[in-house]
Amino acid sequence: MLNKLVKSTIILALTTTVLSATNFNAGAEKDRLEMIKFFEAKFDDPAKNKDRFFTYFTEEELEQKYDKNLKHMDFNIGSYAYSKDARSQYEALKEMPPYEDAIEKGEVLYTKKFANGNSLQSCFPDLTNAGTYPYYDTKTKKMVSLTSTINDCLRANGEKEWGTKKGPMAEFQAYWVNESKEAGKNFDIKINSKAEKEAYERGKEYYYTQRGYLKLSCATCHVQGSGQRVRNEVLSPLLGQVTHFPVLRLKWTDIGTVERRLSGCVVDQGQVPPKDESQTMIELLYFLAYMSNGMPVDGPDVRK
Ligand code: HEC
Repeated sequence: MLNKLVKSTIILALTTTVLSATNFNAGAEKDRLEMIKFFEAKFDDPAKNKDRFFTYFTEEELEQKYDKNLKHMDFNIGSYAYSKDARSQYEALKEMPPYEDAIEKGEVLYTKKFANGNSLQSCFPDLTNAGTYPYYDTKTKKMVSLTSTINDCLRANGEKEWGTKKGPMAEFQAYWVNESKEAGKNFDIKINSKAEKEAYERGKEYYYTQRGYLKLSCATCHVQGSGQRVRNEVLSPLLGQVTHFPVLRLKWTDIGTVERRLSGCVVDQGQVPPKDESQTMIELLYFLAYMSNGMPVDGPDVRK
């Protein structure tokens, strides 16, 4: 009897722990909702919010150059979201989408046979899932990004891995992401276990850590600083920051991966960027992608 009682108490205790631990994404979800609130409040009326968020501007400048009443989904086009002027620049860039060529090259790569007769298509029969990357692979216990999974496929088939910043890697991703966009998919990042929660927390920590002699974090520029000018550019918001990669940047003149862009920002912070397939890089991407949950997959795209 006693034995039975002890056993059922243990089972009860176990069930409670399992139940209370199923909400592994609770903290991340709170972060995401707070971030939406923050950006909607900041950009509901920039002139009115001058003292709180835009101290470097004159009220006149804010009245003239910024739109009012931006909503969550508006942020999906990055720094082009802030004003009509910026949006018309963006629309002009999109008139003759300069990334079409990359999508076509990516489509060819998809079915091109490896030496062993397989192809990328054998590894990735479904291309409508770009918005679910990065994800946690329970078998290898590692975070997987689009970039790392493509190179894993090449390596597993005895092929030479690709460079992670441009060329075929960016072109095949352009095709993959475009297939997901055309299927109408949104970002849908999962946090279903303790390991995933911890990976998210490390990615978030990376984002908020101050670096270099200027002690800048990603958030200094893309949360607090969003909407401000730095040199010739206006700082994009954290929300929707990775939904449109790979990107053809006019400055690069060719298409590049999200890792290429992030590395540039880390170098600007005076630091050595993490390797593109490292867990540190993928965890940073995991945090960024989670913050864009619910927003449409919108790549490839074009940026200045
Ligand atoms: C000194 C300010 C600064 C810091 C710090 C910084 N960035 Fe940036 N970042 C920029 C500028 C300027 C651009 C180009 C304008 C824009 O789109 O924001 C940019 C662009 C980006 C973009 C591309 C946005 C788009 O719409 O295509 C991403 C993603 C990004 N940064 C992520 C990061 C991450 C992650 C970190 C931290 C590792 C970081 N940035 C740190 C200034 C900064």
